[in-house]
Amino acid sequence: LGATWEETRFIVNDGSQPDGLNLGAVVVDSVNGTVFLIYTFCAHYFQCPVSSTMIIRSRDEGRTWSIPRNLSEEIGTAMFAPGPGYGIQKRYDPKKGRLIVCGHGTLEQDGISCLLSDDGGSSWHFGKPLLGMPYRRPKKRSDFSPDECQPYELPDGSVVINARNQNFYHCNCRIVVQSWDACDTLLPKDVSFDETLVDPAVAAGALVKANLLFFVNPAHESNRVNLTLRWTLANSTSWCKEPLQVWGGPSGYSCMATLDGPAPEDKHTVFVIYEKGRNLTTEFISVAKISINGQL
Ligand SMILES: *[C@@H]1O[C@H](CO)[C@@H](O)[C@H](O)[C@H]1NC(C)=O
Ligand SMILES: *[C@@H]1O[C@H](CO)[C@@H](O)[C@H](O)[C@H]1NC(C)=O
Ligand SMILES: *[C@@H]1O[C@H](CO)[C@@H](O)[C@H](O)[C@H]1NC(C)=O
Ligand SMILES: *[C@@H]1O[C@H](CO)[C@@H](O)[C@H](O)[C@H]1NC(C)=O
Ligand SMILES: *[C@@H]1O[C@H](CO)[C@@H](O)[C@H](O)[C@H]1NC(C)=O
Repeated sequence: LGATWEETRFIVNDGSQPDGLNLGAVVVDSVNGTVFLIYTFCAHYFQCPVSSTMIIRSRDEGRTWSIPRNLSEEIGTAMFAPGPGYGIQKRYDPKKGRLIVCGHGTLEQDGISCLLSDDGGSSWHFGKPLLGMPYRRPKKRSDFSPDECQPYELPDGSVVINARNQNFYHCNCRIVVQSWDACDTLLPKDVSFDETLVDPAVAAGALVKANLLFFVNPAHESNRVNLTLRWTLANSTSWCKEPLQVWGGPSGYSCMATLDGPAPEDKHTVFVIYEKGRNLTTEFISVAKISINGQL
């Protein structure tokens, strides 16, 4: 339950490739427990001409993995950087059971799009993206450039994507886009900015558990410090008044997780996995196990 961890090992090895494996996102199909990991190969076109979106799967909870399949053969070679974080499976209609993995494009062509699968991860297609502006042009400060993102589903069946606001459009805070058609479309009219979620432009974590919504990031308008967890009722539009400071010092990318197993503590535990340090954000990867009802 998160107390001890196996040693790190390769599940795909890109050897000495200078621009090999990059951002990825995991999604689990609840029907047969298959775990999919979608990742990018050659995300920055550094000494490699084509960017590929790759997928591997595990049928034994991550112990062994399939050989990589090149999804770009069916979805194209536009650069797609999933997550970083996790993908979701729709629990409510519309499109109950759909697998959704959201990510972003290159900094010039930026914008968010989601890869969708309605057949348990066999075939995938893109929903209509939310494009950055100006599209396919170098961006300036304050241009609209939604970037690394984390989706979650609300109990009303809508999907919310909480995204890095790369060029600080409108605020030094998070971009939020909501979809009522299971990410078939992400529309400009459904974009908002959450001014409570002050952010230095970083990958952040979000999770819905037991009708509560959680959000974690280094809550500072310019520096990656002060990793902070906020929560609210999943149907609410305002956050708790007193957030939890997880780590006051340097802290960077973060992600949230939870377990749905039979252990009683699974019902009231969330995990925050984050980059942490005393001088730099990248000294450690840390895991915080957090009780959401005060019981451990
Ligand atoms: C993946 O498929 C695309 C499209 O066919 C191809 O251009 C690319 O080289 C392939 N990538 C890898 C890593 O095999
Ligand atoms: C089960 O897993 C495989 C992938 O391992 C997937 O293709 C299949 O659609 C999944 N779902 C069902 C209902 O079999
Ligand atoms: C939000 O959900 C809670 C239960 O989780 C309920 O008591 C409350 O009335 C709901 N509020 C709104 C605005 O729907
Ligand atoms: C860190 O966050 C806490 C709230 O959790 C806030 O009171 C404090 O001012 C923040 N510190 C910095 C340096 O931003
Ligand atoms: C942090 O910086 C201080 C002062 O420069 C140094 O003494 C210390 O070793 C550094 N700690 C780490 C973990 O890098």
